[in-house]
Amino acid sequence: MSPSISLTLNGAKRDVALDDPRVTLLDLLRERLALPGTKKGCDRGQCGACTVLVNGRRVNSCLTLAATLDGAEITTIEGLAAGDDLHPVQAAFIENDAFQCGYCTPGQIMSAVGLIAEDRAGEDLERIREGMSGNICRCAAYHGITLAVRQATR
Ligand code: FES
Repeated sequence: MSPSISLTLNGAKRDVALDDPRVTLLDLLRERLALPGTKKGCDRGQCGACTVLVNGRRVNSCLTLAATLDGAEITTIEGLAAGDDLHPVQAAFIENDAFQCGYCTPGQIMSAVGLIAEDRAGEDLERIREGMSGNICRCAAYHGITLAVRQATR
């Protein structure tokens, strides 16, 4: 019998069998749990595209073994909006034109949600840039991203 873990995933309890104890949270979300909103960029902790919240803290899901998460609360980009009502960070990204191709956007938004929850955002754009520095945007939409995070903080 495969070992299993219990998660609270986007507010719902899930028991998940782990066929491979080496599976990462990123691969579990995308390939086993049909949640492809979390993106795979580098798969080695360098780009931030795979950022999700674990117990309210930002993590790179590509570096996190699912087997270590028994009992954890996971929030992905799919869990942010309430029906048709976008999360304030999602709305701020749209209003500030904070993306171009959009590939990094789920990770950027989850990182911004975590940063604000950590009370590390605020009005200072330089502070926001530093707090978001683990999330790379190849299209260089950084100015809009920074403005969006500031707006969502207010
Ligand atoms: Fe995880 Fe790049 S895919 S940090």
